[in-house]
Amino acid sequence: MSDTVLKVSDLTVEYPMARGSFFATRDVGFSLQRGERFGLVGESGSGKSTTILALMRMLKGGLVSSGSLELNGRELTTLDDEEYRKLRFAEMSLVPQGAMNSLNPVLRVGAQIADIYDDHGIHHGRSEREGIIGDLLSRVGLAPEVQRRYPHELSGGMKQRVCIAMSIALKPSLILADEPTSALDVMVQKQVLATLGRVQRDIGAAIILIGHDMALMAHFVTTLGVMYRGELIEVGPVREIFANPQHDYTRMLINSLPSFDRQARFIKAGAQEAFN
Ligand SMILES: Nc1ncnc2c1ncn2[C@@H]1O[C@H](COP(=O)(O)OP(=O)(O)OP(=O)(O)O)[C@@H](O)[C@H]1O
Ligand SMILES: [Mg+2]
Repeated sequence: MSDTVLKVSDLTVEYPMARGSFFATRDVGFSLQRGERFGLVGESGSGKSTTILALMRMLKGGLVSSGSLELNGRELTTLDDEEYRKLRFAEMSLVPQGAMNSLNPVLRVGAQIADIYDDHGIHHGRSEREGIIGDLLSRVGLAPEVQRRYPHELSGGMKQRVCIAMSIALKPSLILADEPTSALDVMVQKQVLATLGRVQRDIGAAIILIGHDMALMAHFVTTLGVMYRGELIEVGPVREIFANPQHDYTRMLINSLPSFDRQARFIKAGAQEAFN
């Protein structure tokens, strides 16, 4: 099998408006290899979420007007909705922006995870299912008993961990994480991101991580894509981009890092330890 998990070519997404369409992305193209960590950065409104929502076919009010999305060698744009439903979670999963508010408040955590298995025709006996869900929660650093809790009984970091657990339940080959930690305080943010990195490695998935924090990104990803006004203006190994940014906007992002010393550190080898 080829090592390419995802190939996005010429992706253009428009949101139809009263007076003509707004193009949220134009001709976006990039690809991911098996297990690769790809970071997507760019200012608010630059089209980051739109790009991964298009991949998931979860755009609200928007449509893919042209382009090709290939996942594990299969063209996605021509799939019907039922085929798409089957591939979500199984081949590609999303930790959405504001994920912790995406949990259903009236369902216990365990029931929400169980839905994923049910929706994909995977059946277990009651105690076997409890064991599987407990193991899954342990993998993201939560006690198995968390499955009996409601979302409002959990802290923000715990809810985020539940969302990460859901995203790996069916061991997809691609995880899409839209600012999975931005609502958390700095310490919890680092811990949750470390967990995400660990489970992603464990299952051998590739990941697209959207974020604003360049420092956090530089530690986590190996490849960086920079979006600006709907276009992917720069893409390449993170160290090369830090060493030799091609666009003013990218230079500005790098300069926003706290100190020159720190910028230099990211360029040097070995800076990735924290999340490995
Ligand atoms: N449902 C929608 N209807 C119309 N326009 C939309 C819709 N969703 C997003 N847009 C527009 O598309 C552009 C890209 O939005 P998107 O959410 O992809 O940005 P983003 O890079 O994820 O920003 P942020 O960092 O704030 O999350 C923005 O200008 C936004 O206003
Ligand atoms: Mg967004």
